Amino acid sequence: MADASTRQLVESITGAWRTRAIYESVRSGLIDNLGSVPRSAAEVAASAELDADTSRRVLRALAVLGLCEQVSADAFVATELGARLRAGTPGSLRGMAMLWGDRIWNSLETMGETLRTGMPGWGNGDFGALHADPAESDVFNRAMAEQSGPIARAVAWSCDFSGYGSVMDVGGGYGAVLIEILRAYPALKGLVYDLEPIAEGARRYLAEAGVGDRADFLGGDFFHEVPAGMDCIVLKYVLHDWSDADSERILASCRAALQPGATLILLERILPERVSAADEPVVRTDLVMMPINGKERTLEEFQRLLRASGFVAGEAKPLVDGCWVIESRAV
Ligand SMILES: C[S@@+](CC[C@H](N)C(=O)[O-])C[C@H]1O[C@@H](n2cnc3c(N)ncnc32)[C@H](O)[C@@H]1O
Repeated sequence: MADASTRQLVESITGAWRTRAIYESVRSGLIDNLGSVPRSAAEVAASAELDADTSRRVLRALAVLGLCEQVSADAFVATELGARLRAGTPGSLRGMAMLWGDRIWNSLETMGETLRTGMPGWGNGDFGALHADPAESDVFNRAMAEQSGPIARAVAWSCDFSGYGSVMDVGGGYGAVLIEILRAYPALKGLVYDLEPIAEGARRYLAEAGVGDRADFLGGDFFHEVPAGMDCIVLKYVLHDWSDADSERILASCRAALQPGATLILLERILPERVSAADEPVVRTDLVMMPINGKERTLEEFQRLLRASGFVAGEAKPLVDGCWVIESRAV
């Protein structure tokens, strides 16, 4: 039996199989065809139009990950954890599974080149191209919304929005952050500002969340302009997509849209000066940003960006999942 440190190293080296097995079982429909009544691999495979023998092998792998249970040699049932890879279940992470197994998987192949040259393998974040493919765009937006849910609830609880009449979620995707804030503050109105191609999906998502009467979507480019007239701007996981120069441009657009004294709520992961094993979430996203010329930052780096763009940064407070909130005031 290998010792614990060898097992840990082997797990790190071989992690790819997990991402891939999860992705393929979601993409193929394998996971959707498991239920509470035991089914053979052949039955599950037939429902999803897959090969029976290969399906049995993938189902076994899912059982090891706790995503289904092998109740006898050839009978599998769903687990609660596995159900979270289905669409529409509470706490679903289906979009994340799809994003990691495809777009992120492919983008990480450029890491070696970036390591040698310092140049991002996919150029500057090209969200226009991403959103030009409606299916890929929907996967991305849902993945963002899924990971935003717990953070959004934490920010609605941690920051006081009672003094505002309106709040704008800039680069807000489908508006998952805004939705939780509006749920916590029933008198508040909101706007999601993001690229026009996602308008339809975002409006549908807002309506399904039950805030369609208080939240709208406006399409636009934050490098060009952020609409003025809102009391507060929320900016979540946007700056980490961009270089310092581009981040300053985005913050400058936000600053121009706000009255002096108005609030910018910045939500980002923050890199410590020296990392430990507990910092996996921020280090993970730092690497994921490498192909698109983005990066995670230290608190000092965020404070410098905010200062340079006309904001006074407040105290940074930890929320959940490695995300921090920095409430800043427009000068
Ligand atoms: C990493 S996602 C974050 C989404 C959301 N704030 C969240 O955390 O769930 C970045 C968002 O910025 C948007 N975005 C990228 N470039 C933009 C631009 N030039 N103008 C407006 N939005 C843009 C993307 O469409 C995407 O929704």
